[in-house]
Amino acid sequence: MRALKERIIPGPKSAELLDISRACEPSCAADQVPVVWDHGEGVWVTDVDGNEYIDFTSGVLVTNLGHSHPYHVEAIRRQAGRLMNCYSFPTPERVTLSRRLVERFPPNLDNVFLLSTGSDATEAALRVAKRHTGKFEVLGFYGGFHGRTYGAMSVAGSMGIRRLFGPPVPGGIMAPYAYCYRCFYGRTFPECDFFCLDSLDTIIASSSSGELGAVIVEPYQGSAGFIFPPEGWLKRLEAWSKERGLLLIVDEVQSGFGRTGKFLAIEWENVRPQLLCLGKGLGSGLPASALAAESRIVECMRPGELSSTWGGNPLVSASSLAVLDILEREGLTENARKVGEFVERRLQELRDKHRGLGDVRGRGLVFGLEIVDPEDAWTPSGDLTIKVLHRCAQKGLLLGRVGAHGNVIRIAPPLVITEEEVNLGIGIIDVVLSELGQSFCR
Ligand SMILES: Cc1ncc(COP(=O)(O)O)c(C=O)c1O
Repeated sequence: MRALKERIIPGPKSAELLDISRACEPSCAADQVPVVWDHGEGVWVTDVDGNEYIDFTSGVLVTNLGHSHPYHVEAIRRQAGRLMNCYSFPTPERVTLSRRLVERFPPNLDNVFLLSTGSDATEAALRVAKRHTGKFEVLGFYGGFHGRTYGAMSVAGSMGIRRLFGPPVPGGIMAPYAYCYRCFYGRTFPECDFFCLDSLDTIIASSSSGELGAVIVEPYQGSAGFIFPPEGWLKRLEAWSKERGLLLIVDEVQSGFGRTGKFLAIEWENVRPQLLCLGKGLGSGLPASALAAESRIVECMRPGELSSTWGGNPLVSASSLAVLDILEREGLTENARKVGEFVERRLQELRDKHRGLGDVRGRGLVFGLEIVDPEDAWTPSGDLTIKVLHRCAQKGLLLGRVGAHGNVIRIAPPLVITEEEVNLGIGIIDVVLSELGQSFCR
């Protein structure tokens, strides 16, 4: 196991590149600790100054295989020397990938359309849903995130995504998600008996013009702060949608491909959406996404209506085939589940120890740590979160930050991580939280 020592960040080469970045790149990219990545291997990343870090980010839940997995790299190299793009002409790589994906999906999802980004997939889902149902309204959830394109933005529940961009696409109706730590209705689970789902009818009655056709939902909300609804919530939402004749779109752009300890997060509750959006882990580094659909639904689209310059190109398809191979051969989904249980235990220990850790939630290898004012567990502390991220990076651990208040630490390492590596990373968080002062500890 590699040893980590404290370092000054940014190092000199990083500082130079960050200056260039500040001079010629806009500051609107998501902010990060000042580490300029050079290369990666498995869960380890090395910056341009030669400092090593454990990566608890997977980029942004992308590199499920770990960085530069040799089999993945070789598959990409081989395909790059054969054929990279041919628009929508079929290739063996694309059709084989489609077949293998369909074989892994719940049986009702018998078609798949390959695209490039998560936003492409959610946009495609919205278009199909609107065309198929002939209705333009879509129910989304507070805190939901489905991408930064206009359609996706219009059914997202985070104000930050819509702010000052003019009118969204009409038809988005919003309802509270099951964020039990900060319940919108001030209730407590399980006594509430999913009151938030029961309230949907009232919301629809007051907000819909009678043209509601679909529901779009994440199995857990990522950007909003890794909010995991209680078990049974998604299943009940599925039933609610079905009873009202609504299409269910599940956005698994970040939760798919083993991340939660199942190939798809919907498998935990055997949920069967009619449309399923995939991305991130499908490429594990290259831009790959997909819309899985029931053929009877997607057939409403005419030739060319979902077409994309890059979607399903042979290079990315060969890469995604390698992703599926590696996930299966190396049992990475099982590893996510097994190591994830260990992560959960370790994080709960941390929570018991540190008062500034308001909530710990997650499944598989995706967790959110909600950082709060140590004196008041309900007050989010974005500033403290930034300090934790910075100190962790100085000690050799890379983390992400999400949440409406920027106070949730994202823990989502590549699925190849071992318990030993987890221990090293969580040990760093523990030390940093302790360093932040006695008041932080219980
Ligand atoms: C749940 C979800 N949907 C959609 C997207 C958009 O994906 P992309 O950034 O690839 O367009 C994301 C990205 O973070 C996401 O987490």
